[in-house]
Amino acid sequence: MTSSNDRYRPGYHFSPPTGWMNDPNGLIQWRGRYHLFYQHNPYEARWGFMHWGHAVSDDLMHWSDLPLALAPEPGSPREDGCWSGVAVNDGGIPTLLYTEVRGGVQLPYVAVGSEDLLTWTKHPRNPVIAGPPEGVSVPGFRDHCVWHEGNWWYQIIGSGIAGQGGACFLYRGTTLLEWEYLGPLCVGSVGENDDMWECPDFFALGDRHVLVLSPLPLNRAVYLTGRYESHRFIAEASGDVDGSHDFYAPQSFVDERGRRIMFGWLREARDEAMQLAAGWSGAMSLPRLITPRTDGRVGMSPAPEIEALRGAHISRAPHDLSPDTFVPIDMLHGDMLEIAATIDPGAAQQVGVAVFVSPERNEETHIVYEREPGRLLIDRTRAGSGYADSPSIALPLDHGEILNLRIFIDRSIVEVFANGHACLTARVYPTRSDSDGVALFATGGTARVLSFDAWELSSSMHR
Ligand code: FRU
Repeated sequence: MTSSNDRYRPGYHFSPPTGWMNDPNGLIQWRGRYHLFYQHNPYEARWGFMHWGHAVSDDLMHWSDLPLALAPEPGSPREDGCWSGVAVNDGGIPTLLYTEVRGGVQLPYVAVGSEDLLTWTKHPRNPVIAGPPEGVSVPGFRDHCVWHEGNWWYQIIGSGIAGQGGACFLYRGTTLLEWEYLGPLCVGSVGENDDMWECPDFFALGDRHVLVLSPLPLNRAVYLTGRYESHRFIAEASGDVDGSHDFYAPQSFVDERGRRIMFGWLREARDEAMQLAAGWSGAMSLPRLITPRTDGRVGMSPAPEIEALRGAHISRAPHDLSPDTFVPIDMLHGDMLEIAATIDPGAAQQVGVAVFVSPERNEETHIVYEREPGRLLIDRTRAGSGYADSPSIALPLDHGEILNLRIFIDRSIVEVFANGHACLTARVYPTRSDSDGVALFATGGTARVLSFDAWELSSSMHR
């Protein structure tokens, strides 16, 4: 099978032209255009020989592929290469800070770009930091978040400290080539038994700071919110960036309109053999707007640019959903859809939307709000041929609070935004060509659908 005729290839979520993709890297809006770099193995649909792939967009939605940006040194083994990092504007010079792995050793590198971002040159002064802080035993030393503050550049690098948990090490420099170690920005546990914090992303949001982490062995993206004082981050609260393992290693950036936008890697949830046969692996999440909220949570919603992809529309008038009913939405079929629903759960114990439903209902994926224990889940136990579990995220609704769902389905992706802060993503692989229906359901009591809208979405890949 070639990558183009695979029915699971997303239509409006970015996926690599061929081969493997993992983390988003180097997100930047440069001279008006959005650039997405990404961890990429161009040779086959499995991890290794990491390059930086590159795509560009005028609107965050329609992407065109550009030539590879960074490549491992010729003859490098599978484990060596150009690992994750960021792009910054260094006084008009586009610059990448990333992890170059050589001989299995992870080193901070700088590459300088041409004005059109098409050619990147690794700086002769690399590595720009000789290695991890002295006297600390670390499981890894990789992934970068870089920002400018006063007259200084700051950067954090993901790591861990044996016996203490995950860690981010903080550095400061007057240029991007010379760095002074300031100490750990933060050390500890967000998951259980954190060993290594991958892909730290640190930024101010409202009157707080946010530290986004991809901790191992948790293998899921989480955030801490708290205070940043005297070069230390003091965490006060935590939350999930996404409830699912299918969303990982997010990175955010601020665009020219001042919006903080995040992308995450949507990894596959099917066997490696199937990924290799398909010839491609990995997709990017939709661009997520990150906003402060008065309740202390991190606000997350799809970038409004997605609305430009909307085509045929249907809606339903407000109506009750009786207990233990499953109500197909006539005339609504498809594998590239947006569904927006507001639902008063009323007395229902469970209420939700089924997608990828086959006529006899032997394949279907459920997006479910459960009153007890107050969570959102995606039940993919009967979705098709991929992993059959039910990822979930806490979604406690206050008494009388309305469930507000925006659901994006895209061939093998279900990406859900609930109530402006809870995100849940799952990869699904329906096997039947007629697994394309949509339905509403409730159990345990009557719920009321206050609004229901659905749109067909068009494809957005220029290839
Ligand atoms: C996260 C990660 C990063 C690393 C990159 C290698 O998925 O493991 O820590 O830089 O991927 O591809």
